[in-house]
Order: sequence, then C-alpha cells, then structure tokens
Amino acid sequence: MTENKIGIDDISFATSHHLLDLRELAEHQGVDVGKYYVGIGQSQMSVLAEDEDIVTMGAEAAKRIVDAHGADKIRTVLFATESGVDQSKAAGVYVHGLLDLPRNCRVVELKQACYSGTAALQFALGIVSRNPDEQVLVIASDSARYALDSSGESTQGAGAVAMLVTADPRLLVIEPTTGLYTRDVHDFWRPHYLSHALVDGKFSMSAYLDAVEGAYRDHETRGGQPIQEVDRFCYHQPFTKMAIKAHAHLQALAGRVLDREESQRQLGPSLELNRRVGNTYTASLFLGVLSLLNHDSADLAGSRMALFSYGSGAVAEYFTALVQPGYRSVLRASEDEARLAARTPLEYARYRELHERVDLVDGTEFATPRVTAAPFRLAGVHEDVRRYEPTRPTTP
Ligand code: HMG
Repeated sequence: MTENKIGIDDISFATSHHLLDLRELAEHQGVDVGKYYVGIGQSQMSVLAEDEDIVTMGAEAAKRIVDAHGADKIRTVLFATESGVDQSKAAGVYVHGLLDLPRNCRVVELKQACYSGTAALQFALGIVSRNPDEQVLVIASDSARYALDSSGESTQGAGAVAMLVTADPRLLVIEPTTGLYTRDVHDFWRPHYLSHALVDGKFSMSAYLDAVEGAYRDHETRGGQPIQEVDRFCYHQPFTKMAIKAHAHLQALAGRVLDREESQRQLGPSLELNRRVGNTYTASLFLGVLSLLNHDSADLAGSRMALFSYGSGAVAEYFTALVQPGYRSVLRASEDEARLAARTPLEYARYRELHERVDLVDGTEFATPRVTAAPFRLAGVHEDVRRYEPTRPTTP
C-alpha cells in the first residue's frame, strides 16, 4: 500500500419508492413554483413508502457494494443517521443481518445531525490506516422531515449512500489535512418526542455559512491544499441553492470572484442528484460526490475536489480528495438514473397521508402494506421488535 492512499473504493446510493414533484407542493401552498425550482433549487423530493426506512435504504445501498466485492474483508460497519429507529440498537446491526455480513465485525451508529456521515468516513480512514487489509463499510441514511405546511417542508427528502473505505481505493483518495469547526447553536434539532425536525431556517443558513468559514480557515492554517489547487467542490446540500451560496461565500473568503460559467463548472454536476432527491441529511454530501462523479462530462482523473460537511448544532469539516485514474469503471451512472426515474410520483393528498402516518403509527405493533420494490422491506413491528425481510423471497 502507498502511504496514506486510503479512501473511497466504491459508492452506491438508494432512495425511496415515491417522489413528490415540488410543483404539487407549490400548487397546494399557493406558492409560485419558481420559489422551489429556482429559489431553493429543488425540483423533486423522495418520499418513503410505509415499508421503507433508513434501514431498508441503507441495506439496499450497501447490498450493491457487497454483491460487487464480497464481505470477507469488512470488519467494521459505521452507520450514520439522525433518523434512528431505536434508542439503543444500531441501525447497522439490522443491515448486518439482512446482508449476512461476517460475524467477526463491529457495528455502530453515529449521530451529529448531517455531519456524522463525514465523522464515519474519517473514523473509517483511521481504522484502515491501522489495518490496511481491512475494509470499512460506511452507510449514511436519512429521512429528512419537517412539519407539514412549514417553510422547511419543501426541503425534505430521503436517501442513503454506502461507501467502501479501503487502502488503494479506485475512486477517491482522501487527503490527510482537514479543517474542523464546532459551535453550540440551535439552528436545527429534533427532540425525542418529535418525528420531524425543528428549525430556525434563516439562522441555520447563516450558521452554515459561518461554519464554511471556520472549517476552511482551519484547513488553511493547518497547511491544507490551497483553494487554487481545487478543481471541483461538493457541499452538504439541504437544498442545492445552499451549496451555490456556500460556494460564493468560500470563494469570497479566498478573495476570488467566479463568473457564472466557472462556478457552474466547479459545482454544477454535484447538484444534479440532490436536486431530485432532496435533503438526505447524513448522505447529502456523499450523494453530491456521486452526482459529481456521475454527471461531470470532463475526465476528472487526477482532479482534486473539496468537500464541505455541515451538521446543524453545529459541526463542520472541510477536506479534499483526489479522483483516481479509471474511476469511471467503478460507477453505475445509468443504474442510478434508472433508480431515480423509477420512483412513483405522489399526488399531494397521498403525500400528506404518508407524512401524517409516521406520526400516527403505534410504535408497539403494526404491519405495513407491500409497496417498495427495493430488495428489503420493513414488514412491521411485532411485540416491540422491528421486522425486516427481503422483498423478493430468496430462491432456495
Ligand atoms: P423560506 O423562508 O420560505 O424561503 O424558506 P425564502 O422566502 O427565503 O425564499 C427562498 C429563496 O427563493 C430566496 O432566494 C427567494 O428570493 C427565492 P435567496 O434570496 O435566498 O437567494 N424566491 C424565488 N425565486 C424564484 N422565483 C420565485 C421566488 N420566490 C422566492 N417566485 C428556508 C427557506 C431554507 C429557510 C426553509 O426552506 C427552511 O427552513 N429549510 C430547512 C432548513 C435548512 O435547510 N437550512 C439550511 C442550512 S442548515 C443545514 O444545512 C443542516 C440541515 O441539513 C440539518 C442537519 O444538519 O441535520 C438542515
């Protein structure tokens, strides 16, 4: 292994069965659709079916990686989420069971709003650096929910990203210098008794931009790669316009003014998937990375990308990665597009019903209708235990 050549060897994403076009939402709210399509930069949002959750999405994303590589070298599963399904048991343990991963494995769940996917990645790099023959499966999976009729409603979404972290990775080598920032603020949080987040929307945007500055300055102070050496940028995307604002802010901090064309070149491809999926909290930054790799028409081999991760509350990190030669052969761009296109559009009334259902379900006992076409489904809760099953019966 080349020293410090550790990073993301494979990446895969999953999302929900349904989508809501934001035109539907705008029409029912009496809002000009331009506010959503242009103002916040979102066209659709993924909406979970009754038999989907963070475990089914996480397991689907991870299955593609395990099917491609086997699981013999995976000794750690890190599951990042802020939509946890149990106060004690890690969601990754369900995934471990569904995918029949090796018993000699550690599995843990991480939480710090949208940031914990990046924490998982950094912890994985540390584990692989100590044991280069081991692989770490990182899963970030979330359902982003705000109250009905609130201003955050248009920024919901659902999705999971799984990443295989290895030595000598085929996609991205993560560079060692990293910029960190933490500040105790109340911009967005979810108390135990709520199934949706509370948010101070405008304050959250300024807290995000402050964190861009804090993390970027720390990266600079610690001798990280100068911004002039960065070819592409990926940000946490609660909505794509936030990334555009963050990018302009970062460039201004570095004393640069970009024209629209240059900004689009550096950032545009990373917004494509997120624009159609919505906020995926912990997975959002990495969905942006996948979007960039899938959608940038330039050959990115040898390019450097900067990644900015933000989790309300707030913790942030700015770091860089190098795209590896041959990266395109690892991607599944047409499959990813087909998965998005296969989602079933919801009518507004049905969307509301699904949203309200999450709050109404009696957590002690329920069964779900068969809806999802994903490989795994939540069958229900029986005697306080969540029951997951393969959607298609396994052939004997
Ligand atoms: P709002 O206040 O209803 O929207 O909600 P607005 O009035 O500010 O309008 C939004 C934009 O649309 C504005 O653009 C308008 O001008 C424009 P801007 O001035 O900002 O560039 N606009 C139009 N454009 C074109 N045609 C039109 C039109 N009308 C208006 N007709 C808000 C916006 C983001 C506050 C809300 O959606 C919200 O609260 N979202 C949730 C919070 C959020 O996403 N915060 C982001 C930072 S915090 C974060 O990223 C962490 C997070 O992911 C959670 C975690 O870490 O776990 C959220």
